[in-house]
Amino acid sequence: MGVDLGTGSVKVSVMDKEGQIISQESASLSLSQTQPGYSEQNPEDWVTATTVAIVNLALKDHIDLNQVEGVSYSGQMHGLVLLGSDNQILRPAILWDDTRTTKQCKEIMDVCGDEFIKITKNVPLEGFTLPKILWVKENEPLIYKQAKTFLLPKDYLRYRMTGDISMEYSDAAGTVLLDVVKKQWSQEIGDKLGIDMSICPKLVNSVDSVGTISSEYAKYSGMSTETKVFAGAADNAAGALGAGILDENKVMISTGTSGVVLKYENDDQGYQGKLHFFNHAIPDKYYSMGVTLAAGHSLNWLYETFGDGESLSDFANLADKSPVGAHGLIFTPYIVGERTPYADSKIRGSFIGVSSINTKSDFVRSVLEGVIFSYADILKIYHEHGKHFDTVYSIGGGTKSETWLQIQANVFNTKVKTLENAQEPGLGAAMIAAVGVKWFSSLEQCETQFVKKGKTYWPEPDKVEQYQKLYNIYAQVYDQTKMMNH
Ligand code: XUL
Repeated sequence: MGVDLGTGSVKVSVMDKEGQIISQESASLSLSQTQPGYSEQNPEDWVTATTVAIVNLALKDHIDLNQVEGVSYSGQMHGLVLLGSDNQILRPAILWDDTRTTKQCKEIMDVCGDEFIKITKNVPLEGFTLPKILWVKENEPLIYKQAKTFLLPKDYLRYRMTGDISMEYSDAAGTVLLDVVKKQWSQEIGDKLGIDMSICPKLVNSVDSVGTISSEYAKYSGMSTETKVFAGAADNAAGALGAGILDENKVMISTGTSGVVLKYENDDQGYQGKLHFFNHAIPDKYYSMGVTLAAGHSLNWLYETFGDGESLSDFANLADKSPVGAHGLIFTPYIVGERTPYADSKIRGSFIGVSSINTKSDFVRSVLEGVIFSYADILKIYHEHGKHFDTVYSIGGGTKSETWLQIQANVFNTKVKTLENAQEPGLGAAMIAAVGVKWFSSLEQCETQFVKKGKTYWPEPDKVEQYQKLYNIYAQVYDQTKMMNH
């Protein structure tokens, strides 16, 4: 069983040894955004939603939960869950897309300097966990004082299903309190920032066993106390597993709420914080990645604001009625700020070139194109570091739109491949469980059985050329508009 704890929903998948999905069920989650830039969830909602999905899946497909040999997880990254002395939740979780911590990010760099990048391999960004810990310390000192442990979202969910408190490396790296290469909490950074490091939980590998389903959770969910539980991975690491990103030549693009461009790495490549650099789910391997904060979010926003009662997929298909370049309309997807390459939480998006001939279809197309241009900005960083690749594996909800996939192939001038079976990080989570229960001797071996390649989208030379011209215009918009919001 793979449990994929996302931001909008939890999705549970049960798979067999052949890598076929036997049953899948999801339950939605709501966000609390009480102030601009705030994004929170109640950690107990994750537990309830997961349980609802498990119970419904068992009922719907007559799944005997006693037959589930192992469970593992994929989780939305970076969210801060603070627990008190009885492991009670001290405040709502502050999520990855919460941007209240600009001041704390600056403080971290002022106090730690370049040493910070050397140790964590990243620069502090609003989304990451350490600035959130400092925000609570500064703004809610009474809560901070009560904190005994901090966890990340899927680690909290796993704790509630097993009783075990731990964090695994691929997620721990995203706290930016971890020495990524030494695989230990950084006492040095903790000391410099005045953080009591006893709040850091024990660290485990993704495939490590953390015990079995607790009797309390078994009663609550109908699962068995015989079912083994494995630590799991950050959603991006799990997504990379599920897409077969297991060697240095492979690049994945995942389009969900946010968009991620990710590459497998054997060792530190000296990106100096221009890209995120985290531990992979494969022990002692890494991945680098860049993030477009509003990918699917940009399309959803347009749909919710200007949709006319049609389904989201019909709305997305309007793009087919508009040509390459959307009749002169260019969109930059910075509607909630941008991470890569700008690390700027204040910038906002734009439509430029609006004309009286533009239709709703042009707006939809320009949003799809703008998101892909933003991925091209990330790929440019790889090219600047001498990395070249001939295939991009595309996963996530965004792959439902064939037009969006074809735009990727044309903008990147690279072939784009999809996957045939579950295209979500949940597959990676199930792979970790499959290796944990020894169905396979390694994640690499499991990949050959579980990851089934899908369709290929080839670049179309005339459109490649058109997109290169449009991208050159797109790339200038950030500099020309940033003064509006700073
Ligand atoms: C990665 C990030 C997002 C979340 C989404 O740094 O913030 O991809 O993991 O769940």
